[in-house]
Amino acid sequence: MTTRLGLNIDHVATVREARKASEPDPVQAAAIAELAGVHGITVHLRHDRRHISERDVELLQRTVKTRLNVEMAPTTEMLTVMRRLRPFMCTLVPETPEEITTTGGLDVRANVEAVRRALGELQGAGIRVSIFIDVDQEQISTAHELGCSMIEINTGPYADLTPADLDSAGPAAWEECERVKAAAAYAASLDMTVLAGHGLNYRNVAPVAGIAQIEELNIGHNIIARAVLVGLDTAVREMLVLLA
Ligand code: PXP
Repeated sequence: MTTRLGLNIDHVATVREARKASEPDPVQAAAIAELAGVHGITVHLRHDRRHISERDVELLQRTVKTRLNVEMAPTTEMLTVMRRLRPFMCTLVPETPEEITTTGGLDVRANVEAVRRALGELQGAGIRVSIFIDVDQEQISTAHELGCSMIEINTGPYADLTPADLDSAGPAAWEECERVKAAAAYAASLDMTVLAGHGLNYRNVAPVAGIAQIEELNIGHNIIARAVLVGLDTAVREMLVLLA
């Protein structure tokens, strides 16, 4: 079965912000990616607005023809913004000011009240909610108990263990892939929708795309990195072939 592709376009905005200019425009990137066949567009609205701005989310919300997924920390500020903008879905992620990128899943068990509140406010506004989560059954079952019906499994640790040539990957990489698989099967057994992402690239994506319960992969950096060299349309189409 084909795995859907959600393209994270944060780094289109990163290039724009490097010059505080108006180009490249994430809205144009989203349209090109949709024409190339992506199933959804993802952006992370960070507290420091280092790449994506509130205006970007507002424009994308009006122009994206597939599904707009906004990653956000479960903070009062972000809940207020999302209740106003009402994207198709939000993904709750942890966020620290000094991190270069999201460094792990949200610790749901340590943030029960914040997650409960975010689920209540976002779902109450008609927004679907996913939680970015590590391969940990207790975290997944807590998310489920709190009323979350969708998760994105963190594939970062798997990606960190995969070398440029997947054939030479050591046992640790395959063990981590098995953990992703077990977490996906567990979440699906709870009737949760299962997505996955982080650190995936053209070389390491196939084993994760082959996990039956994972419906969609969120991929950003590697596709945008390739797009700089071969163009966004080609970069998206090449990834879609690997997910088919
Ligand atoms: N999923 C989540 C929750 C993320 O925070 C990110 C990075 O913004 C991604 C997926 C995409 O990761 P990458 O850019 O490594 O493909």
